[in-house]
Amino acid sequence: MAQIVHKYTLLILLSVLIMHSLFTSVHSRKFQEKKPCKRFTLYFHDILFNGTNLANATAATAVNRTQLGNYKHGMLVVFDDPMTKQNNLLTPPVARAQGFYFYDTKDAYNAWFAYTLIFNSTEHKGTLNIMGADLMGEEMRDLSVVGGTGDFFMTRGIATFRTDGQPDAFYFRVKMDIKLYECY
Ligand SMILES: *[C@@H]1O[C@H](CO)[C@@H](O)[C@H](O)[C@H]1NC(C)=O
Ligand SMILES: *[C@@H]1O[C@H](CO)[C@@H](O)[C@H](O)[C@H]1NC(C)=O
Ligand SMILES: *[C@@H]1O[C@H](CO)[C@@H](O)[C@H](O)[C@H]1NC(C)=O
Ligand SMILES: *[C@@H]1O[C@H](CO)[C@@H](O)[C@H](O)[C@H]1NC(C)=O
Repeated sequence: MAQIVHKYTLLILLSVLIMHSLFTSVHSRKFQEKKPCKRFTLYFHDILFNGTNLANATAATAVNRTQLGNYKHGMLVVFDDPMTKQNNLLTPPVARAQGFYFYDTKDAYNAWFAYTLIFNSTEHKGTLNIMGADLMGEEMRDLSVVGGTGDFFMTRGIATFRTDGQPDAFYFRVKMDIKLYECY
């Protein structure tokens, strides 16, 4: 009898130990900012439809601005934009960025983005979902990579925006540095 009790005590102790180590391993996971598990840079090209550039436009204003302030507050743009590896618009796209942004600030140019990067090439197949504030007063803006599918199954990370050029009112280019910290 004493032996059985002893065995049970041991078993219980062991399972408590296992559970404890599982729990602490989940909660002590550290992310090192400089050590993403996957990292790449792509350029986002937004060509806004202006009434005449139908052949080339990849984005259009879906809701017009409001009269609140002078920074396009309320204007919502829906896009299906090409993503390229080089910053030249004419280089072949490696993904599409599909989603929207809207201007949301009364006294400055700020936008909020929500979009999916869709990869369908021999290099990558799958999607990355990205959202967050584009605080244009900052040189570098961090948005969240909130998930992914396919080659990017269950991923999370950061997409750092940097405006790369805005030659006219209907075209801008953003350098997106994508750093993933969870890869499966
Ligand atoms: C629309 O954009 C195209 C290409 O940038 C430009 O040639 C054209 O003049 C623009 N149209 C208007 C109405 O601004
Ligand atoms: C449309 O894009 C082509 C290249 O794909 C370019 O040669 C042409 O100038 C562009 N047209 C306008 C109006 O921007
Ligand atoms: C959008 O709003 C601006 C400013 O209120 C106005 O000048 C313009 O005509 C509007 N555009 C459309 C397509 O309604
Ligand atoms: C992905 O590419 C393949 C081969 O080019 C094509 O058959 C397929 O329709 C594409 N899928 C999407 C979702 O674009």
